[in-house]
Amino acid sequence: MEQQLEELSKKANGELSSCEDAQALEAWRVAYIGRSGAVSELLRGIKDLSDEDKRVIGKNGNALRRELEERYQEKLHVLEKASSGRGVQATSYDLEAGVGHLHPLTLTMSRVHEIFASLGFIIADGPEVEEAKFNFDLLNIPAEHPARGEGDTFMVDPLSVNGAEGLVLRTQTSPMQIRSVEAMRLHPPFSVIAPGRVFRKEKVDATHESTFYQFEGLSVSETTSIADFKFIIETFFSTFFNAEVTIRLRPSYFPFVEPGFEVDMSCPFCKTGCKVCKYSKWIEVMGAGMVHPNVLKNMNIDPEKYQGFAFGGAIDRLAMIQYGINDIRLFWSGDVRFLRQFS
Ligand code: PHE
Repeated sequence: MEQQLEELSKKANGELSSCEDAQALEAWRVAYIGRSGAVSELLRGIKDLSDEDKRVIGKNGNALRRELEERYQEKLHVLEKASSGRGVQATSYDLEAGVGHLHPLTLTMSRVHEIFASLGFIIADGPEVEEAKFNFDLLNIPAEHPARGEGDTFMVDPLSVNGAEGLVLRTQTSPMQIRSVEAMRLHPPFSVIAPGRVFRKEKVDATHESTFYQFEGLSVSETTSIADFKFIIETFFSTFFNAEVTIRLRPSYFPFVEPGFEVDMSCPFCKTGCKVCKYSKWIEVMGAGMVHPNVLKNMNIDPEKYQGFAFGGAIDRLAMIQYGINDIRLFWSGDVRFLRQFS
């Protein structure tokens, strides 16, 4: 009987190693360690043995059962792991994660692309690690300007603080005004839009992030005026919010425009004041202005002959207004409860 046990052990181990899927493994389990499997069957026979043999065979038989059970668990684990890229396991993971979808910022950015493209703007893209020259100097922001300080700007190398030589994480998409004209050899008349990521050393709270997205616009021709700007931007916001929206301009200062203004849009959700516009009926949406002659010169465009407008707004802010999001930090939280609402 001892020999029978040994043979059984050999046979069971041999067959186990050739089990290649869950089905074969289950058949093996039933055949060997199941209730009426070979090991149980053998152990049932010990009742006819002497007490001494009963003890020895019983002990060895149970040891074999334990060993085979352990082997079975190991094998099960190996097969499950192997099939987790396909088959049963993979299906259950996929159900858990749900169908993928775009991030709300991506959705808003696509919408911005789409509307400006329909208004005749071409789309440009440029570097997030930017030369200080493009982020500041060529935009008429001189070396001593406070915005260049380390307080606002992530420096990639320390030369950036004073000189035009250094690299920074761009603090605005405005360097794309000059870059796109250079890179695409644009000659007036042209209109270009450049959406992208920007970085600022902000103290992060519900309305400020150190990383966010802007969209930069630039339109130049012999006759481009503030009236053109007003028409384009009113059309953009009216289309975006699917509501009749007007804009108003408040005087403001940016070194690369003259005159410069803050742009407010009439609240797309109410006529009399609501939570979104903080009961003021207006929402601040972007900075803008007529391109400064020095900046036109830096684009190799003759400021005596051509003029244009430029504007820059935050995609995050648009998305927050559009979807009623009250905390900008949610965009980067990776919280699926937040993200799933945009599928
Ligand atoms: N770059 C400015 C900002 O980030 C916005 C702006 C763009 C203002 C173009 C005027 C013209 O605040």
